Amino acid sequence: MQANELDRIVTTALADFAQCDDPASLENAKARYLGKTGALTEQLKALSKLPAAERPAVGAAINDAKAKLEAALNARRASLADAKLGRALAAEALDVTLPGRGLGIGALHPLTRTLDRVETLFRSLGFEVADGPEIEDDFHNFTALNTPENHPARSMQDTFYVEGGMVLRTHTSPIQIRYMETHAPPIKIIAPGRVYRVDSDATHSPMFHQVEGLWIDHDVTFADLKSVLTEFLHRFFERDDIRIRFRPSFFPFTEPSAEVDMAFGAGDWLEIFGSGQVHPNVLRAVGLDPEAWQGFAFGMGPDRLAMLRYGVDDLRLFYENDLRFLAQFT
Ligand code: DAH
Repeated sequence: MQANELDRIVTTALADFAQCDDPASLENAKARYLGKTGALTEQLKALSKLPAAERPAVGAAINDAKAKLEAALNARRASLADAKLGRALAAEALDVTLPGRGLGIGALHPLTRTLDRVETLFRSLGFEVADGPEIEDDFHNFTALNTPENHPARSMQDTFYVEGGMVLRTHTSPIQIRYMETHAPPIKIIAPGRVYRVDSDATHSPMFHQVEGLWIDHDVTFADLKSVLTEFLHRFFERDDIRIRFRPSFFPFTEPSAEVDMAFGAGDWLEIFGSGQVHPNVLRAVGLDPEAWQGFAFGMGPDRLAMLRYGVDDLRLFYENDLRFLAQFT
């Protein structure tokens, strides 16, 4: 065997590999040279027939040739893989030289910002923040709030019932009960949270937010109620000239009760708070003596405050998560 013969095999193999334009034909070409009966393998087999003295040099030359073929194969494999990726990228019209899209900077939802603001302001008036479960039992959502079984506020139409006689809480008022069950007065809390009712129009969504308030001590009066709610609204809207009215109303868990409306636009009123002096039956339901303790409670709609503050006329916009809408408030 001649060194020429090895050179010839290497030259043809390299040309052969270069012509393969898919991985399968490349692997077939490899077999023609390096496979069991491949051209280079045959040279190796012939080695044993050579005189012992020639074998080391020829053997080294064959190994050398083999290394060249393998290097060429690896290079060709890599370039076929690159070409394949290039075709895939072109098919998807991807341009890897474009700058990355980057991560957008997030921002808080306008309702979250409103709730944060409400919490901050009430904390500054001495209230602590409490919370409670969104799935409530009958006792906490209704009965303990002086709302007996046949009361219209329990009507099937506006309550979402869930398994086991539980309800998606229809208001945050049950947190009053849960808090009084576990804490002795004096109590001065607000409790923000999600509430649920079967209701949907421009100013009602089936899920919305409330902030409950409760202040119980020996001598908390209706005058305190008026001053706290008025002070809160002044601070929230950052002005003293807003117009507020306390309108006599009815809630089973307060007596007397008032709704608090705020003027907006051209002489329209929007209800912001339900409120009143806590009914003696509510105090009794949690084991407090109504002769010793008294105070006021309120339920507020922060979503409505957000509508007024941001000038939004449809509540549902806050829940659609359309970034074109939300980004206006960041
Ligand atoms: N829970 C009432 C509602 O959802 C709102 C309310 C009214 C809460 C008066 C109160 C209150 O704490 O005193 O309509």
